[in-house]
Amino acid sequence: MASHAINISGFKMTMKKFYLFLVFVLSILPGTYGQEMKITHGPYLQALGENEVTIVWTTNRKAVSWVEVAPSGDESFYSQEHPKYYETRNGNRVADTLHRVRITGLNAAESYRYRIFSKEILTYEGHRVLYGNIASTNVYRQKPLRFSTANPARETINFTVVNDIHGNFDTLHALTRDVKFGTTDLVFFNGDMVSSMDNEAQVLKGFMDKATELFAGEVPAFFARGNHEARGAFSIRFPDYFPTFSGHPYYSFRQGPVAFIVLDCGEDKPDSDIEYSGLADFDAYRTEQAEWLKEVVKTKEFLDAPYRVVILHMPPYGSEWHGSRDLRRKFVPILNEAGITVMLCGHTHRYSFMEANHGKNQFPILINANNTSLEVMVDLGKMTITHKNTSGRELHRHEFKPVR
Ligand SMILES: [Fe+2]
Repeated sequence: MASHAINISGFKMTMKKFYLFLVFVLSILPGTYGQEMKITHGPYLQALGENEVTIVWTTNRKAVSWVEVAPSGDESFYSQEHPKYYETRNGNRVADTLHRVRITGLNAAESYRYRIFSKEILTYEGHRVLYGNIASTNVYRQKPLRFSTANPARETINFTVVNDIHGNFDTLHALTRDVKFGTTDLVFFNGDMVSSMDNEAQVLKGFMDKATELFAGEVPAFFARGNHEARGAFSIRFPDYFPTFSGHPYYSFRQGPVAFIVLDCGEDKPDSDIEYSGLADFDAYRTEQAEWLKEVVKTKEFLDAPYRVVILHMPPYGSEWHGSRDLRRKFVPILNEAGITVMLCGHTHRYSFMEANHGKNQFPILINANNTSLEVMVDLGKMTITHKNTSGRELHRHEFKPVR
């Protein structure tokens, strides 16, 4: 077979070598190929616990990425070397456009500063890698981003809940504009933040960019998947963008005096409905969650908590559609025995409050609307939930006593 060769200034080189040469030349020319490398979305915090956090962002080109972590304080980020954390999978550092760096071994109840880096990969053949430019967050003109690890010993926490945003980021802006590091400990996205998950841009541009601009780089957002996030060709990738402690979209964690259980409602119609095109299998998935839930409510972390809050997008009452009935059948009997303080839901786009009802839901259920937020303040004496509109005006207020 004839080998293709090219002649430059008297030097013969193969097409492959010529390609590598071309990429190298382009990468060192200012204003061209190499300089286009950039962070396109994020960074935002996920799965922030007592000893860990995962930092997520995307780049426009494939890159190897890492996070540098420094103690809190005013010392310059450039004053010394900081530990570097990479995303690794089965021994390989990941080279991708989606970056999820899990940082472990952190101290509980401590504040840290961080900076993200992505080093562009121009070519990758065998173990021969040609790197391009590095994109990073700025710590020269701007302060480094921050986070504080969770602390179960804390006596007070504040959190905010929004849901059913359906990609309307003006509403998200109005409802979360006061969320800030040091003021709000965490935010819940209680489902249907987008109307469908068809591609990456829909999710990130739909609301995550706005959340990142406002708070998500420093205040962790915890996602309870809605039925709309279970729709679309990209929905199978949901856990890649919103990693959790359990590795599933259902999980539990403790912050301050509250044990949180986040459940995944699945779809609202029967799995065989024509709308799901033969791709839904949520009955079995809800059964799997119920088995997990039975174990969670027996854990010391859960039983020791003065308050126990369940986050579930679709209410188990108020509808006779299959999804709600299946939640009622599978989750409610377990939760009725678990001393739940309150369950927070969305989905209906209307505020409503259901008192604990013996024989049905033996815990109160609070449903937040699609254009309101729940601002929750917790101390050892009471949990106060304020229902607010986009102007910040209080519409309703509920108080709950600790369960133990
Ligand atoms: Fe919904």
